[in-house]
Amino acid sequence: MGNYVERFNARERILHWFVMVSFFTLLFSGLGLYSRLFHGYFNLFGGGEMSILIHKYAGVFFLACSALLLMNHFSEMNFFDDDDRSWFRQLGGYLSRDPEHIDSGKFNAGQKAFGLFMGIATFLMAGTGLVIWFAPSFPVDVVRISLLMHGLLFIMFIMFVIVHAYLTTIGNPGTLESMIYGNVRRIWAKKHHPKWYREISGQEKPG
Ligand code: HEM
Repeated sequence: MGNYVERFNARERILHWFVMVSFFTLLFSGLGLYSRLFHGYFNLFGGGEMSILIHKYAGVFFLACSALLLMNHFSEMNFFDDDDRSWFRQLGGYLSRDPEHIDSGKFNAGQKAFGLFMGIATFLMAGTGLVIWFAPSFPVDVVRISLLMHGLLFIMFIMFVIVHAYLTTIGNPGTLESMIYGNVRRIWAKKHHPKWYREISGQEKPG
């Protein structure tokens, strides 16, 4: 028995990194559009017009990859069981010195909420983005509301992605290996996702 178990296959990892790269392309090409304070970021893409063009096509790519990623993981995320409710009650144990044991499956409740939020928010972001892209075809109030929602969702995206990046790296050492190599250490799987580990290794729940 090796020390590692498979967590994500190559397709899942490639999709995740496509989502991440297109996310950061959207972030930096969009910053200059968000506020005059950030106009300097246009220089990264050779000027304002080029930034807008790249922002539009990176958005289409991000939507396609995010939709595929969500479809891939949907059946692992679209339910919250008693253990997930216990995770929410304890806020994942992150605020406690001596957290209770939480029997998480492949994804814990926070990861499921993050994945589902990102899925819904991506569709809203794409919908409002299309209205802004083809603004002359829509009533002016629809364009105004879309601009407001696009900007607010952007703030939420950034906040969630910062927390996600922290939790999958320094917050929980050993996690990033899953997205780089596809495998995680057995000891990591037992600690963070005990129910999932029992499922894949065919073990019984200890009494
Ligand atoms: C900023 C750099 C990022 C890093 C270092 C990172 C890292 C990771 C890692 C290591 C996992 C696997 C977690 C596990 O095995 O339990 C993961 C999962 C995931 N990532 Fe990222 N990611 C990043 C950015 C993003 C972005 C920008 C998005 C979407 C906009 C995203 C969406 C997801 C989703 C939906 C999952 C599956 C659910 C979850 O684990 O929360 N990630 N990420």
